[in-house]
Amino acid sequence: MLKGKKIVLGITGGIAAYKSAELTREFIKKEAFVRVIMTKNATEFITPLTLQTLSGHPVFTDMYAPLTDFDMAHISLAEYADVILIAPATANIIGKIASGLADDILTTTVMATKAPVLICPAMNVNMYNNAVVKENISRLTALGYLFMVPGYGELACKAEGYGRLPEIPDIVEELESILTPKDLKGEKILVTAGPTREPFDPVRYITNYSSGKMGYALAIAAKRRGAHVTLISGPTALSTPRDIKFIPVASAVDMRDAVMEHLDSATVVIKAAAVADYRPSLRSASKIKKGGGGLDLQLERNPDIILEVGRKKGNRILVGFAVETENLVENARSKMKKKNMDIIVANDVTKKGAGFGYDTNIIKIISADGKIENVPLMSKMAVADRILDRVKKIITSRQSAPRRRPAFRDR
Ligand code: CTP
Repeated sequence: MLKGKKIVLGITGGIAAYKSAELTREFIKKEAFVRVIMTKNATEFITPLTLQTLSGHPVFTDMYAPLTDFDMAHISLAEYADVILIAPATANIIGKIASGLADDILTTTVMATKAPVLICPAMNVNMYNNAVVKENISRLTALGYLFMVPGYGELACKAEGYGRLPEIPDIVEELESILTPKDLKGEKILVTAGPTREPFDPVRYITNYSSGKMGYALAIAAKRRGAHVTLISGPTALSTPRDIKFIPVASAVDMRDAVMEHLDSATVVIKAAAVADYRPSLRSASKIKKGGGGLDLQLERNPDIILEVGRKKGNRILVGFAVETENLVENARSKMKKKNMDIIVANDVTKKGAGFGYDTNIIKIISADGKIENVPLMSKMAVADRILDRVKKIITSRQSAPRRRPAFRDR
């Protein structure tokens, strides 16, 4: 989470400099601490006053100006930063950093810091493709500087191509990832999310209220913690998360096939999808026209994906969900046992703020050893981290379990 994190934002002289105002607002909204450094050229595009107002602190533009931010008086910006973000970054600033130049407050701060530095280039497409810029980016990448690839589209100079500042939510997400400890590195986590659609003619289907938010939160949180994530998702209105292998599916049968195809490489499987238990037995090739009376729909059972995964589980950790409206714990426990899960997340959807569609959830995490953890109302991202903490505990306990000695045998 960016809450409480110290971000030093470096703004350089490109037309996208105006977007850094929105970026600063976003960081403040997320309760991060922001200090802004602007190069002299950046102040030609946007005023320091704008950034001072939004960040709530004086903006650093001049290395030799008397200090006005007394919080900073004896802490250098380089030491203060949990992360330094340069957005937008011009070809000039990239060239200066790559050449080891430190002749203004931004380049000196970058050179002096031990914090990660994320650089978001934004410039004309030909400049971005220039061999010198490319070489500077490769050189800095090899030295451990982090870069985001610019967005594609129409640029301020009317050319089209890669050169736009990445979208603000994508920059925020990249920082979240950079600042999250990588305690799930090496894990391959398969997550299913969203509803499934079970069609009965070309224009109609049956489905459920799942929004996919819980599964997407789990996929994003696992990615931030360093796992390699595959997200198999039914149709949702959510945007596709970055840096995650994304496999869109529609029906329960499609989802089952995708899960089985990717099961071999997974070390953890989290089944957050609300799979439809039934599908129409017949699917009309043409639209069903209305007649005089009603319409009878015959339904048949869909494959139970988690049951199949449970049978082929091996050493994998299997996490399932139980959506219930009554007898939450008993129903969840019996599902966990029947389907060979290690953890079941029990979700009482009758509670306000829990389950389908909400950005929050209230859950109980029940593990096979009988432990129940009550997780009160919190955001689905925070809930996701609590579930992953439990997964991590199982991984750690398996790693530290003493190897079985060969049994002593009487001769
Ligand atoms: N699930 C699945 N395949 C299905 C149905 C459910 O993999 N065809 C998974 C869900 O992703 C979830 C878990 O099973 O992780 C529990 O789903 P739920 O619908 O609550 O349980 P069911 O076992 O289907 O029981 P019931 O509908 O009778 O409550």
